Amino acid sequence: RNLPAEPELPAGTLEALRAEAAVCTRCPLHANATQTVFGEGPRDAAVMFVGEQPGDQEDIAGRPFVGPAGRLFDQVIAEAGIDRSTLYVTNAVKHFKYEPRGKRRIHQKPNMGEVQHCRWWLDLELTLVNPKVIVAMGATALAALTDVKGRLQDVRGKAMATEGGRTLFVTVHPSYLLRIPDERLKAEEMARFREDMKRIQGLM
Ligand code: URA
Repeated sequence: RNLPAEPELPAGTLEALRAEAAVCTRCPLHANATQTVFGEGPRDAAVMFVGEQPGDQEDIAGRPFVGPAGRLFDQVIAEAGIDRSTLYVTNAVKHFKYEPRGKRRIHQKPNMGEVQHCRWWLDLELTLVNPKVIVAMGATALAALTDVKGRLQDVRGKAMATEGGRTLFVTVHPSYLLRIPDERLKAEEMARFREDMKRIQGLM
C-alpha cells in the first residue's frame, strides 16, 4: 500500500529544523531518551533562553522547561514582567541524559562531547531566530554558547556584547536554585535570580 508522502516542510524554517532534530542520531543520547526536546517560541523572538538539557518531565512532554525548573522559571520571569510566549526557550543539549535507578531516572550532566555535538542544533536555532539577547542559564549553556573558559560566577549578571551585535547575559540555572539546601542561601540566590530576570526584562 502506498502511503502518502510526508509533506515537505519549507527549508530554513524552525518547523523543518525541529523535524530534522526529531530524528537526530548525532550522539548516543538519542538511544535512551523518549524524544528530542527542541526549542520553542516565535521565530522573531528578541530573547533566547538556553538551559542545559531536558529533564524527566520535558523528555516525556517533548517541551523544554515544563518540569520543576520550568515552573520556577515561569514564576520568576512572570514576576519580572516577561511574557514566556514572547521568548524562544531551548537547551544546549536536546536529549535527556539519565541513569536509571529503580523506577526513577536520575539526571546526568551532559559531557563536553555531547554539548559540542548538539551545538549543531543550537547554532541553527541562533541563526534562524537571530535574537538580540541570549540568556545562558548555567555553566553548560555558557560553555555551549561561548569559548570562554571561566567560572560562571565571574560572568554572572553581566550583559556582554558578542560578535554579531548580540548581548549575552549569564545567570544560574533554575535547577541549581531548587537544589540549595540552606534556606538563607537559597533566599539570597533566589533574590539574585529575580534581579537577573528584571535586568533581562530591561534589555528587551
Ligand atoms: N533543565 C533544563 O536545563 N532544561 C529543561 O528544559 C528542563 C530542565
